[in-house]
Amino acid sequence: MNYKEALQLNIFSTISKAATELQLETYVIGGFVRDFILKRGDAKDIDVVAVGSGIALAKKVASLLPNKPKVQVFKNYGTAMIKTKEIEVEFVGARKESYERGSRNPAVENGTLQDDQNRRDFSINAMALSLNEATFGDLLDPFNGLQDLEDKRIVTPLDPDITYSDDPLRMMRAIRFATQLQFNIDPVSLEAITRNAERIEIISKERIVVELNKILSSQTPSIGFILLEKTGLLPYILPELQALKGIDEKEGQKHKDNFYHTLEVVDNISKHTEDVWLRWAALLHDIGKAPTKRFHKKIGWTFHGHEFIGGKMVFKLFKRLHMPLNEKMKFVQKMVMMSSRPIVLSQDGVTDSAVRRLVFDAGEHVEDLMTLCEADITTKNPRKFEKYHNNFKIVREKIIEVEERDHVRNFQPPVSGEEIMKAFNLKPSREIGIIKHAIKEAILEGDIPNEHDAAYTFMLAKGKELGLEVHPIK
Ligand code: CTP
Repeated sequence: MNYKEALQLNIFSTISKAATELQLETYVIGGFVRDFILKRGDAKDIDVVAVGSGIALAKKVASLLPNKPKVQVFKNYGTAMIKTKEIEVEFVGARKESYERGSRNPAVENGTLQDDQNRRDFSINAMALSLNEATFGDLLDPFNGLQDLEDKRIVTPLDPDITYSDDPLRMMRAIRFATQLQFNIDPVSLEAITRNAERIEIISKERIVVELNKILSSQTPSIGFILLEKTGLLPYILPELQALKGIDEKEGQKHKDNFYHTLEVVDNISKHTEDVWLRWAALLHDIGKAPTKRFHKKIGWTFHGHEFIGGKMVFKLFKRLHMPLNEKMKFVQKMVMMSSRPIVLSQDGVTDSAVRRLVFDAGEHVEDLMTLCEADITTKNPRKFEKYHNNFKIVREKIIEVEERDHVRNFQPPVSGEEIMKAFNLKPSREIGIIKHAIKEAILEGDIPNEHDAAYTFMLAKGKELGLEVHPIK
């Protein structure tokens, strides 16, 4: 089979020329080939393997390119990279590897193309296209990756125990590809992952998070999380989610399975946002339910304060996984902490002041919060489903209305502390805080509009109430 049409970029003819000059057998391999056959858009990462020195090849290629790009050499790995605006090409020498157990650092030996293909993760990632002049574009597919693409199958080239043991991250990669491509993991592979799950512990958190983010960014993330649970990987990675699984029953009363509920919420939200952090918020919105679960004879199961506890857990989880502890984490935390607010609204009826408070507290993230809460409606009762959605529609309309009138989204006090001090001839003191708080409350309650003059008049009245005297000069 020939795939010349995959190799139309100029870079490929340049690599071919360099390979001929150096008399090096050269191939493009891995994700580029897979994604071309799957017609998955234009791949930007190109992996090139040379039977010999990948570094020498990269240098030759750079010298033949008109703009003479820089070659980044990673001597320890025997790899080199050329980056242009559009693409990134990584060059590597064909390897025959045996990893030592307990370490990710392989003992590398030079090998043939076939050796190199043997040590790759999946048959669909082991396909290579020739860049050699005489065979340019020929497909080398020793493990029938083409058929596996057709059959939507994730299968390892070697015995899966060896492949996964060589690099345990591949267990997550298998699940990630199954999620992204909606493929099935070969049953033998699935068993091997289950058997080797514990070995994920030697993998760095950063690499694990890359895979988690790719799973979460997929069209139907639940596929991945169900597989992580099924294979026993989940407790090593996200024990907080594992703890949500299961249904307890006491005195004939059951609660829902919060793990599967969460996955439904994540799939729902993924239809409405590409923002991976909002998807993280959906994934974590109920994690506080496991530690707060209680049974009361009269009222059944409760999860009091789970939003607050959940918010605190978000910080710990991000820290453990070496994820950023920046505004993204704070965003996820805020979404989790506020995740029940609009729901209460949608059940109780929607007053202006409740909506104003919601906008005030959620600030610029109020739309994201609404998106999360709408995704959280997983009731199978069509009457309730419609009612909640309708109420949320009203909440959304009210948010716009209230915001146009009162501008509380990025609330700035309409009367400053300085003005209060001047009006009552005060030094910095407790009273100022009390008056400021009262003004804010009056605005949120709708007693006064969010305007300077109205707030000033209110301030004067409030000051009097506190026994303060108005200073003659305004
Ligand atoms: N590879 C592997 N084992 C790994 C990582 C990568 O065998 N743990 C091989 C696979 O052949 C893979 C290639 O290296 O196709 C490139 O890896 P990478 O760029 O991480 O993934 P891609 O397959 O290109 O897929 P994606 O871009 O979607 O991550």
